[in-house]
Amino acid sequence: MTWWAELYDELLAEHLLVRAEGEVEPTLDFLVERLDIAPGSRVFDQCCGIGSLAVPLAARGFDLVGVDQAASYIERARADARTAGVAAEFVAADACDYAPAKPVDAVFNWWTSFGYGSDAENQRMLDRAFDALRPGGRFALDTMNLPGVLRGFRRDTVTRRTTPLGEVLLVRETSVDLAEGRMLKDWTYFVDGKFATRHHSSVRLYLPDTIVAMLRAAGFHDIDLYGDLSGGPLHLDSPRCILLARRPS
Ligand SMILES: C[S@@+](CC[C@H](N)C(=O)[O-])C[C@H]1O[C@@H](n2cnc3c(N)ncnc32)[C@H](O)[C@@H]1O
Repeated sequence: MTWWAELYDELLAEHLLVRAEGEVEPTLDFLVERLDIAPGSRVFDQCCGIGSLAVPLAARGFDLVGVDQAASYIERARADARTAGVAAEFVAADACDYAPAKPVDAVFNWWTSFGYGSDAENQRMLDRAFDALRPGGRFALDTMNLPGVLRGFRRDTVTRRTTPLGEVLLVRETSVDLAEGRMLKDWTYFVDGKFATRHHSSVRLYLPDTIVAMLRAAGFHDIDLYGDLSGGPLHLDSPRCILLARRPS
């Protein structure tokens, strides 16, 4: 089993993927503007998690299809779409293999869902984003900005959240494998003060120019880089790296 199949469980969903009010709208505004889409456009959320962006985007009148490897997340996204009364399609599959059969107007891959596998696997995820798009369609990829992460490096992070599963405390211990170019994390959860579970993750660290080269290898053109949701330029301290790319017409 891959580390990501183990990591993405219910505890992580409740602790990190349920978005606070006020967090969703600026992200959706950015996507709508930068992907150049309007209600009725068909949009593919690659690695959609529990659908916490896809469902509210569908509620704005977009035709959504989302994929995630976590079957339980896909069930939750479908249930939330039903509750919200929106039509959206959610598929449990490997995003390195899956692209919707009917072409989409735009694709997004959000919040560091990229870089989990080998370089070849990561390239395949970008290739599938390209395959999904109609000619002229745009792709937005939101991931870590390696220079910013290293400049603000924190070994230990402790976060708490009250969830339906209880009071969840998450301790993340981070290290960098410089020889392999990967960020390693140990994730330890405590629920209501008791040890619950421990997971491990290993994400490939790419400089932005390497991701640009991978996007070009997938066939993308017109690649722009941003450091935040206001469309500010990417710089050394930006914590995020948002790449916008277009499939040629
Ligand atoms: C950090 S979460 C972000 C989820 C979502 N994009 C969001 O912003 O809420 C990363 C997600 O990527 C999914 N994922 C990672 N690798 C995947 C793969 N190869 N195929 C499908 N889903 C994948 C995980 O299951 C997880 O839900």
